[in-house]
Amino acid sequence: MQTWSDAVKRQDKRIAFVPTMGFLHEGHLSLMKEGRRLGDKLAVSIFVNPAQFGPTEDLESYPRDFDRDCELSEKEGADVIFAPDELYGREFQTYIKLEKLPNHLCGISRPVHFRGVATVVTKLFNIVKPDIAIFGEKDYQQLLVIRQMARDLNFDTEIVGGPIVREPDGLAMSSRNSYLTDEQRVSALSLSKSLKKARAIIEKGITDAAKIIEEASAIITSHPETVIDYIAICDAETLDDMQSIDRPALMALAVKVGKTRLIDNAILSPPH
Ligand code: PAJ
Repeated sequence: MQTWSDAVKRQDKRIAFVPTMGFLHEGHLSLMKEGRRLGDKLAVSIFVNPAQFGPTEDLESYPRDFDRDCELSEKEGADVIFAPDELYGREFQTYIKLEKLPNHLCGISRPVHFRGVATVVTKLFNIVKPDIAIFGEKDYQQLLVIRQMARDLNFDTEIVGGPIVREPDGLAMSSRNSYLTDEQRVSALSLSKSLKKARAIIEKGITDAAKIIEEASAIITSHPETVIDYIAICDAETLDDMQSIDRPALMALAVKVGKTRLIDNAILSPPH
């Protein structure tokens, strides 16, 4: 992989990179499209990263379809697919850990998650040597973590965010949606519905964060098999809680539907 990247760089070409854990969907493909647009060569990685899964999480059952992923990536114009079997030697002991951003949202219920993400992305960047890397806003906190890490550690890679791609009915695309039964798929819609509801009531003049969270929570809990992990309204840079929508805010939520943990988010603007 490094040999390929070095050769591309010698030709003065820019490498755009989309890291993934595979089982690709339109969300991933939209990032590849953006990569094609921004760079001269497109690299895609497929690696289900053990370091970002907790001991009781779905590492073993995480959906995989390598042949289909290769087909889709190639169709999207990937020039190289990096899919290592293994990235951690037996004596691995060096991790990247951010001090503040992981103490919010998903970092609270997934204590090793962002350490695993930051570490694998660092490793992938050192191997792929991208000029530009594209990450989805679907994993908003992850995007912030990677931006912060790139800034703090002087990475020579530009970090670009891509918008959330949704199913026609509003469900944010996710490899984990494949776990859902038909009934759970209906319950899963409550995440995007609650974000829509938040926007609607803000337009009616309700800007109190606690009230908005209460309304969102009522929508979600009215659906079967849902357990809310968190619903937060917070500063879109620091992730500190906000009391009121007096400036653009991030509304982010994580909900378990059956055994499947789903996330979604939206930026909320103050009423017009
Ligand atoms: P994965 O969940 O496979 O996602 C790969 C990239 O696709 C991430 O940047 C994610 O935000 C983006 N993505 C997922 N669903 C999306 C959607 N509906 N719309 C837009 N973008 C979407 O995120 C990871 O893998 C891993 O943590 C990784 C960064 C690869 C490190 O292991």
